Amino acid sequence: MYVLGIETSCDETGVAIYHSKRGLCNHLLYSQIEMHSEYGGVVPELASRDHIRKLVPLIKQSLQESQLSSADINGIAYTAGPGLMGALLVGAATARSLAWSWQIPAVAVHHMEGHLLAPMLEAPPPAFPFVALLISGGHTLLVQVDGIGHYRLLGESLDDAAGEAFDKTAKMLGLGYPGGPKLSKLAENGRPVFQFPRPMTDRPGLDFSFSGLKTYTMNTLNGSQKTEQDKADIAMAFQNAVADTLSIKCRRALKQTGLKRLVVAGGVSANKHIRACLTEMAGRENAAIYFPRPEFCTDNGAMIAYAGCQRLLAGQQQELEIFARPRWPISELSGL
Ligand SMILES: Nc1ncnc2c1ncn2[C@@H]1O[C@H](COP(=O)(O)OP(=O)(O)OP(=O)(O)O)[C@@H](O)[C@H]1O
Ligand SMILES: [Mg+2]
Repeated sequence: MYVLGIETSCDETGVAIYHSKRGLCNHLLYSQIEMHSEYGGVVPELASRDHIRKLVPLIKQSLQESQLSSADINGIAYTAGPGLMGALLVGAATARSLAWSWQIPAVAVHHMEGHLLAPMLEAPPPAFPFVALLISGGHTLLVQVDGIGHYRLLGESLDDAAGEAFDKTAKMLGLGYPGGPKLSKLAENGRPVFQFPRPMTDRPGLDFSFSGLKTYTMNTLNGSQKTEQDKADIAMAFQNAVADTLSIKCRRALKQTGLKRLVVAGGVSANKHIRACLTEMAGRENAAIYFPRPEFCTDNGAMIAYAGCQRLLAGQQQELEIFARPRWPISELSGL
């Protein structure tokens, strides 16, 4: 079964074709980062308009590069939420219309389920059940995954998401958007002179909070000379605090569930220091750890094509309505 995957939930237009037996045939990504960077963040209306411009040409290119025609496609998977309403509607309307005209099923995919299943595109894929840490621009979730669609929320951020905290801290340090990768680069020149707090690790539970850490960073920056070296030292201290906090909570989640497999996904999982910290912790706990390849940590069409393919194989599909849900708790998903 060939599945066309479409991702338009935020500022990336992602398209991919996945075959249920042969795996990923092709994936293409157009990032709008340059367009939004002059505003310091995503402008929703500009995002929607750019998805309209880029989506159909990308679909044509993906078919061409895979040496397939529309008649070969057996189903379409599209991100239906959570995300920006206008941006989601572009993907949902295009997917639903193409599926109708090609007379094939369309399936709505939850964006975070896409992120969560992205490591399934790697070899070896993780077996169920596992603990998943999802760290992205809009979410920080710890989930027990018993199977596709069987998600038990273990913990989440009570305020800023991990990626949001990286982006806001980077802005404070005078770095551009999106700040995560830039802050991480700056931290490479840092010296271990500051020790930042590890929020919510001194009490039981698996929830996160990053907004206090952001304020602590701001106060440290304001109390310094704001030299390039100060900024690098602060970036390093911030990154270390986030990495340690995530690692402490993941260790707790593994202990609480008794599971020995940890999956880490979402944009922030591309961070080398966080990957190293979590890998070291997993090693100490005798647990296996799984990450997507760096390009599948951030938004992409491949994860949507994969997740949609699993749901289509299980007989799920959407009615003819154009389905988009900007807010959509992952715990509301049905299992296969
Ligand atoms: N190397 C890195 N270090 C830290 N953060 C990073 C790195 N690379 C990307 N990020 C962060 O990842 C986020 C983008 O990830 P992703 O595309 O998964 O999020 P999103 O799609 O905007 O949010 P969501 O998936 O929650 O809707 C941004 O906040 C970005 O700063
Ligand atoms: Mg995302």
